[in-house]
Amino acid sequence: MNTRMSKEDICAYLGEDFYSYKGAVTPPIFQNTLFAQSHELKGEEPEFVYTRINNPTIEIAEKKIAALEEGQEARCFSSGMGAISAAIMHFVKAGSHVIAIDSIYGPTRDFLENYLARFGVETTFVPGHNTDEIESAIKKNTVLIYLESPSSLVFSLQDLEAVAKLARAKGIVTIIDNSYSTPIYQNPIKFGIDLVVHSATKYLGGHSDIVAGVVIGKKDVMDGLRNEERAMLGSCMDPHQAWLLIRGLRTLPLRVRQHQENAMAVAAFLENHPRVKYVLYPGLKSHPQYDLGKKQMEGYTGLMSFELTGGKESVVGLLRNIRHFRHGCSWGGYESLIAPVGLGKNQEELKRSCVTEGMIRIHVGLENVNTLIEDLDRCLV
Ligand SMILES: Cc1ncc(COP(=O)(O)O)c(C=O)c1O
Repeated sequence: MNTRMSKEDICAYLGEDFYSYKGAVTPPIFQNTLFAQSHELKGEEPEFVYTRINNPTIEIAEKKIAALEEGQEARCFSSGMGAISAAIMHFVKAGSHVIAIDSIYGPTRDFLENYLARFGVETTFVPGHNTDEIESAIKKNTVLIYLESPSSLVFSLQDLEAVAKLARAKGIVTIIDNSYSTPIYQNPIKFGIDLVVHSATKYLGGHSDIVAGVVIGKKDVMDGLRNEERAMLGSCMDPHQAWLLIRGLRTLPLRVRQHQENAMAVAAFLENHPRVKYVLYPGLKSHPQYDLGKKQMEGYTGLMSFELTGGKESVVGLLRNIRHFRHGCSWGGYESLIAPVGLGKNQEELKRSCVTEGMIRIHVGLENVNTLIEDLDRCLV
């Protein structure tokens, strides 16, 4: 980690060697599988061997993201789920117990609840607003606490410092999905969290043109992830994907600032609209954990959820009439998106995903914010 570099400088320069690229203003893509060399004859360890293990283009992205997160090292994966599943699998075995937040990303919950259960790993889900809930769920065989703060549907926060302290005292590993905040607005390792995971598909990539993931943490764990989960299970990043990720990182600080500015304006508009019941956005003073957010986050990005007063009918009306928000449930790119996250779910499914039937999630993109507000205003009659 280089503590003297600003986040903008890390995004722009760290890990790159402009002069060895013959003056090219973007780093080269090492689009090759193998690094052929006669290291056996020289008796040396080769720097690069095979792209499933490591690759110079992928390493540039890894160096930048590790420094942004103030972690020792990072490992890139072919998707956020590739990164998350690898990080979790690194610490569990048959008989292990995991504690996870109940409102985490759905496929992560499925992975813990259903997939890993087949291999004898048990998970307890807790709301996690209060660290006591996490403490009470700890068992003798708890090896891992999995967080997502803010969570990406209902924007629940966990007290990172308190959870890390509790976990360290009991020898339990902590992992957090930091995709919502990005390393620009939250650095969980500073609070004592062991590993950070990202869906780099979202803000890190930032252009809705790659699916990618990354894990950040201590060197020994990162080497283990590279040599075991990534090398054996094979969810390695492709060099071209890494190159697009580096391209995305260059504008990350700028983009998240603008997402924040636009989202703050949209959240304030929605909160003051008579047809809106409530808005869940960690940057609003009305957010139930606003003070905790202020303590551990340096800013907010573009996602929020809200509910309308008119129930299901008004959700359908909004979806039919909206023009400048595309219908879709990913986020983190340029474009504004809208998703009816509870529509069509039965009571059990609603409870499991911690949403209500009328809940709408929007991603506020980088378009002109007045156009976005006018679009919402026109539909909320
Ligand atoms: C919060 C969160 N974490 C992880 C993921 C999984 O990432 P990926 O789609 O890159 O596998 C997503 C995807 O939507 C997400 O929203």
